[in-house]
Amino acid sequence: MTDLLTPVLSAHWGEDNSWKLSRYEANGGYEAARKALDMAPADIISLVKDANLRGRGGAGFPTGMKWSFVPQDNPNPKYLVVNADESEPGTCKDMPLMMATPHTLVEGIIIAAYAINSHTAFIYCRGEVLHIIRRLQQAVREAYAAGYLGKDIFGKGYDLDIIVHAGAGAYICGEETALLDSLEGRRGQPRLRPPFPAVAGLYASPTVVNNVESIASVPSIIANGKDWFASMGTEKSKGFTLYSVSGHVKNPGQFEAPMGITMRQLIELAGGIREGHELKFFTPGGSSTPILTAEHLDIPLDYEGVAGAGSMLGTKALQVFDDTVSAVRTALRYVEFYKHESCGKCTPCREGTWWLVLLLMNFEKGIATQGDVDKLLDIADNIGGRSFCALADGAVAVVTSFIRHFRSEFEAGTHTPAWELFPYEKSAVF
Ligand code: NAI
Repeated sequence: MTDLLTPVLSAHWGEDNSWKLSRYEANGGYEAARKALDMAPADIISLVKDANLRGRGGAGFPTGMKWSFVPQDNPNPKYLVVNADESEPGTCKDMPLMMATPHTLVEGIIIAAYAINSHTAFIYCRGEVLHIIRRLQQAVREAYAAGYLGKDIFGKGYDLDIIVHAGAGAYICGEETALLDSLEGRRGQPRLRPPFPAVAGLYASPTVVNNVESIASVPSIIANGKDWFASMGTEKSKGFTLYSVSGHVKNPGQFEAPMGITMRQLIELAGGIREGHELKFFTPGGSSTPILTAEHLDIPLDYEGVAGAGSMLGTKALQVFDDTVSAVRTALRYVEFYKHESCGKCTPCREGTWWLVLLLMNFEKGIATQGDVDKLLDIADNIGGRSFCALADGAVAVVTSFIRHFRSEFEAGTHTPAWELFPYEKSAVF
């Protein structure tokens, strides 16, 4: 099974001091950045475009194309912002990457910032993960000391500063425009798009916001070329990627594999479903993506394959749930998350997630009526596509997909209230 893995980003995670500059350089680190700084910025953008690297933060927007949108005739400074605010439930790929090999990210930033003609880059990281923030700061300090950041990088006449910025722990700040508001010192709430950040982002200046994994993938493309990258993956979703597998598997973790690997293969890589149980459902890309079930075990986990099954690849965070899990309770738990994390800016999200939780609690308590299933769907219908950003759509995806696959569990009316199963939960849940 392990021959399915394509370790590139994770190739050196297990090595001693993998996070140190000396170790990174011993593995060929910073050679790609040196090479890139001898290239014309436009050629770097073309290379990344031709490789067809798609954004690894969830949406899969072509990275090179995003870079090409930066208007170079705009007199304002250009900014590169790395979205390291990984918060999607189940998603745990950027954090280990930054912890194990932060210099991959720093090197990717040098290349990307040079390509878009930016001299200031930010890494916006979750505030709660102090160990990662310290590791990033340490890597940035090491890079400055070696002359890889600051003035005249590698003696090639290019200047770049990287600022590591700690957020304050709000899921909404992973939404790119809320992140920019937060970075500017304001309360993190989404802005209306367009204009997209590439045109008017940080301080109303052209700004590329890229996910950690997207940027960290760039050095390997510069080093090995577009054909190497495109030799992995599927026709429209090229390359390798980090899948996070969690939940009821024997060996949860991060698995770096080509785009298009199947869920069945990933579950096998993770040691299989825990003993004596069967798969009930899974999220293909974190809780914001509609759940899938055993009938979808063989679809390719790439953007097209997952879309064809009625879901989204999202962050490639595969949360696996076995037959011991209640669909109703899981839906409630997820939607509680969205209610809690709703920033409150727009009514459909702020009020809608509140109503969804209220109704789902009735199912959990065993006091919902048959009509409540349709009421849930009706509320979801009034939220979906009507909110400022994609946060509320995540809650809608939970409700609609759980009902699609497990309507009978909702309708049965025989759902056993949590406190009857686990009396201690009563105070915790209600
Ligand atoms: P989106 O599809 O609206 O945009 C994706 C990117 O492409 C953005 O950077 C956007 O600025 C850019 N873009 C799109 N159209 C453009 C245009 N015409 N011109 C210039 N730039 C353009 O997706 P969105 O709302 O930014 O992100 C949603 C995704 O985020 C979901 O798929 C979800 O999986 C993921 N997500 C990830 C989380 C994480 O922890 N990594 C947390 C929550 C959601």
